[in-house]
Amino acid sequence: MSTTDATVLTDHETFAEGPPHPMFDAIRAETPLADSGVGPEGNRLWAVCRHADIAEVSRSTDRFSSNVAGIFPNSNAVFNLMLTQNLLLYKDPPDHTKFRKILQTAFVPNSVNKRQEQVRATIDAFIDGVIERGECDFVKQIAVPFPLSVLMDLMGLPREDIHTLEGWIDAIEAATISGVSDEANPVMMEMAPYLLEQITRQKEAGTESLVVTLANAVVDGESMKDEEILVFFGLLVFAGNDTTRNTLANGMRVLLEHPEQMRMLVDDPSLIPNAVEEILRYTSVVQYFCRTATADTELSGCPVGEGDKVMIWYTAGSRDPGVNDDPHRFDITRDSIEHMAFGGGGRHFCLGAGLARQELRVAFEQILGRMENIELADAPVRKRTNWANALTSMPITFRSGSPLNPS
Ligand code: HEM
Repeated sequence: MSTTDATVLTDHETFAEGPPHPMFDAIRAETPLADSGVGPEGNRLWAVCRHADIAEVSRSTDRFSSNVAGIFPNSNAVFNLMLTQNLLLYKDPPDHTKFRKILQTAFVPNSVNKRQEQVRATIDAFIDGVIERGECDFVKQIAVPFPLSVLMDLMGLPREDIHTLEGWIDAIEAATISGVSDEANPVMMEMAPYLLEQITRQKEAGTESLVVTLANAVVDGESMKDEEILVFFGLLVFAGNDTTRNTLANGMRVLLEHPEQMRMLVDDPSLIPNAVEEILRYTSVVQYFCRTATADTELSGCPVGEGDKVMIWYTAGSRDPGVNDDPHRFDITRDSIEHMAFGGGGRHFCLGAGLARQELRVAFEQILGRMENIELADAPVRKRTNWANALTSMPITFRSGSPLNPS
């Protein structure tokens, strides 16, 4: 039983200054399950903050479902559940296993490695756009357009459509904050004709892309239905962007708060891959997802009733002192880094983790090499939400430098 009031975790205001780590620490120390009150559909909500418990929930898809009532406290948050049940993130095995295979080949290390130089050229183009001015809004001018452009290339989408896609992502993110049922359904209505047009155009042009892979996919001997292709597309556009942008922006913020570690990276770029893992751990930008108990069950000896929702707080799991020493210390030289930024390690473990790591590594190589003396020009602005650890603006100043040699 927890003496900490975990009901406030469903209030965005609790996250106004960042994730409430002291509260997560207290809950983690006291109990595997803290009562987070009653959800919008009358079911009990529990906060799960320990690394081992989050991992157990994530692995036990038979006991803790993503499908029966979705992955937010409100089953119909963002999109209607009937629509989202087609989404990979919302599927349980065996369906999930079949659908995950469709996308898997695009994200194997070989496919990701082949794109490295294109990713480097992409971040370079955004740095080119600001370098002579010596100032920019890091979030708006670099962190937002960079991963979106990488993903648009992967999907064979014309770069001039970037603002249309940005608008859709913003609308979906706004819906994750409001929690209002079906709020982003109109986005799907707009995406549908766009996607169909892209499929036709790319097939005619013989383009090899994720969009064509989706359109040609066969599951159980049948082509995917239009709505399945659509939600897959929506998932990739959102999951692949919002997350990477938030990690890049928060990563830069954390480095600015720890200038001695930023200096170490500039002096020795071979530390960048480890720094990326530490940034992923320290910022854990997807703060939680939910699962629903399929029957009366238990977690670490505590009862969970059928229909109860557990909120698995990845951001707390990444700072569990049981798996990382002195977890609130940001340290790019840590020997072993255990984090839940990409999920709890179960079947839904982030499919784009390899691509995201590559994007972040290449981005920091180019940014830290080409932009010298980076400093904050004004306070970063946070998004008020308990779901994404996100910045909306971070003005910086810098000088033009010479590229790093990451080898
Ligand atoms: C730093 C960047 C990223 C972070 C922090 C992140 C985080 C996550 C998290 C927490 C999950 C849920 C895991 C779970 O429930 O256990 C997830 C799933 C997923 N992510 Fe990522 N992600 C990132 C980048 C990407 C990218 C670049 C792509 C693709 C272009 C992507 C595609 C997906 C997909 C398709 C899933 C669903 C997997 C499934 O349900 O089987 N993500 N991600």
